[in-house]
Amino acid sequence: MEKGLGQFFEDYLEQESLFTNKEHLQPNFVPETITHRDEQLHSVASILAPCLRCQKPSNLFVYGKTGTGKTLTVTYTTQQLESVAKKKNLPLKIIYLNCKLKKVADTEYRLIAQLAREFGKAIPPTGLPTDEVYSIFFKEIDKEKRIILIVLDEIDVLVGKIGDEMLYNLTRINAELKNAQLSIVGISNDVIFTERLDPRVKSSLSEEEIIYPPYNALHLQQILEQRVKLSMRKNAVAEGVIAKCAAIAAREHGDARRAIELLRVSGELAERDGSTQIAIAHIDQAEDTIEKDKVIELVKGQPKHYQATLFSIFDLGTQRKDALFTGEVYEHYKYVCQQVALRPLTQRRVSDIIGEFDVLGVINAKVISKGRFGRTREIFPSTSQGLVDNAKATLSEELGL
Ligand SMILES: Nc1ncnc2c1ncn2[C@@H]1O[C@H](COP(=O)(O)OP(=O)(O)O)[C@@H](O)[C@H]1O
Ligand SMILES: [Mg+2]
Repeated sequence: MEKGLGQFFEDYLEQESLFTNKEHLQPNFVPETITHRDEQLHSVASILAPCLRCQKPSNLFVYGKTGTGKTLTVTYTTQQLESVAKKKNLPLKIIYLNCKLKKVADTEYRLIAQLAREFGKAIPPTGLPTDEVYSIFFKEIDKEKRIILIVLDEIDVLVGKIGDEMLYNLTRINAELKNAQLSIVGISNDVIFTERLDPRVKSSLSEEEIIYPPYNALHLQQILEQRVKLSMRKNAVAEGVIAKCAAIAAREHGDARRAIELLRVSGELAERDGSTQIAIAHIDQAEDTIEKDKVIELVKGQPKHYQATLFSIFDLGTQRKDALFTGEVYEHYKYVCQQVALRPLTQRRVSDIIGEFDVLGVINAKVISKGRFGRTREIFPSTSQGLVDNAKATLSEELGL
């Protein structure tokens, strides 16, 4: 750097930022106008409205793919409810929990403890019998006559981790409450999640159901246009940029989160190379960056054997253009295990792991029949070489190779 870092920072300050309010591009920002969700907003509002008259609303189950505005619309509605209740001094308590947060919803104990804490009870992180935490929670909520609304966002993740018994308990709790009444709003990104529930839980959880369909490219374009006005300087985006972000996100099941993220990252990249405007090329770059972050993130969270398997595929794949087969991946995997003092799993297990990575989209693995030699998988890394190199570096570090 010829001019020195000091000058670089000064120039940086001189340059006007593309963003005026970057927080407005954060996933948890609640905009004042929500487009293309009138029907859903209206349904959520009318289902929950009775709580203002101190009547227990039906339990509500909201579902649709990621980025279809579920969290946003429910948050918006409950915020409005809360503010009316406050103004009129009505006995309403609304609790929102995102079940994807490990600390909150990893175990039944943690969840109930968190709920009790929302009512101001101090519960130790471990140590009490779960039944006791339940009873503290129960006593606390029944202290006053009021309606309690518990929003369990990403409820599918919760049930995946701790089963549905807790939901059963929560939906039955009203029978024993003398003063308070409790309703549940469950939100799920997994559309067929209720199929896996105990039928009794299913029927009480979804007394009412609302489906969120995906947005199309036009919807997304309007959502983005609105967001750009809130968060960026005038003329910060070149022509066609918004349409392209919308089109990319529409291709992936109409995900508004993805569309907004793409725009934000494009803006960051544009700023980084000193441009005063986001150009189409920045979107391509942003797509790569986001993809890379996702793969790296995914790779980091895996157990050692998964990492060793993926490393083997990427390592062999770097040396070869054509498909890899399960057998050779397994041989290489065994070698990697030896290097890091890991006892290898069976080939069968490793083949299952390969299948799981295929489902996650990190690799492409097609099962093919080899006649009387049985079946194998034809495997290709599904990401670009640049990504593979990055992922390999992360994996070697994680494995201590
Ligand atoms: N109709 C809409 N109008 C404005 N912004 C929206 C709309 N739908 C979704 N968004 C934005 O898109 C992102 C994802 O929405 P979110 O409600 O979190 O999706 P979900 O909970 O269905 O996965 C959020 O940043 C949200 O503010
Ligand atoms: Mg959500």
